[in-house]
Amino acid sequence: MKGDKPKAATKELTLHLPCTKEAILEARMKLDSFVRQNGFEREACDITLVAQEALKNIYQHAHPIDKKMHLHCTIERDRVLLEIWDKGKGFNVGEVERRKRPIMSTHGRGFELMQGLTDSFEIKSGSEGTFLRMTLKKWESGKRPDSLEQCLP
Ligand SMILES: Nc1ncnc2c1ncn2[C@@H]1O[C@H](COP(=O)(O)OP(=O)(O)O)[C@@H](O)[C@H]1O
Ligand SMILES: [Mg+2]
Repeated sequence: MKGDKPKAATKELTLHLPCTKEAILEARMKLDSFVRQNGFEREACDITLVAQEALKNIYQHAHPIDKKMHLHCTIERDRVLLEIWDKGKGFNVGEVERRKRPIMSTHGRGFELMQGLTDSFEIKSGSEGTFLRMTLKKWESGKRPDSLEQCLP
């Protein structure tokens, strides 16, 4: 139709990995080169850090029945969509969100970090597992937007 812009092709990366430390590193490297190749060089460090925290949570807490960590990354025109899920034991999201962490605590900061570095963050968790859906926008000004800086733990 007149005036319609051609849609940019969507690029996707899907990983179904064993629930191991080595696989977390492998996922991080694959995701890093995938997003860099698709124009998210500056944002790559934040994207991979967020993914690493989510995968680390699966490794440490989920005990998935299929012994797998699942990741799906979609490149859109101006943002990256990251979905990470497991078929593990799940947890009470509200309870974890309400938990107060002492400032010097060395753990319990994963979600704070993921939320701080993403533009949108959704989590669903129950007895069939945990599903995270996060988006990270392209940095328009070439650096991390101030709105995100303020959220960092
Ligand atoms: N995929 C998951 N499966 C089950 N429990 C989880 C998962 N991810 C997070 N959790 C729960 O949420 C808590 C908070 O996670 P996080 O903020 O990353 O802190 P930490 O991993 O250091 O405890 C974890 O301690 C765990 O109880
Ligand atoms: Mg964690």
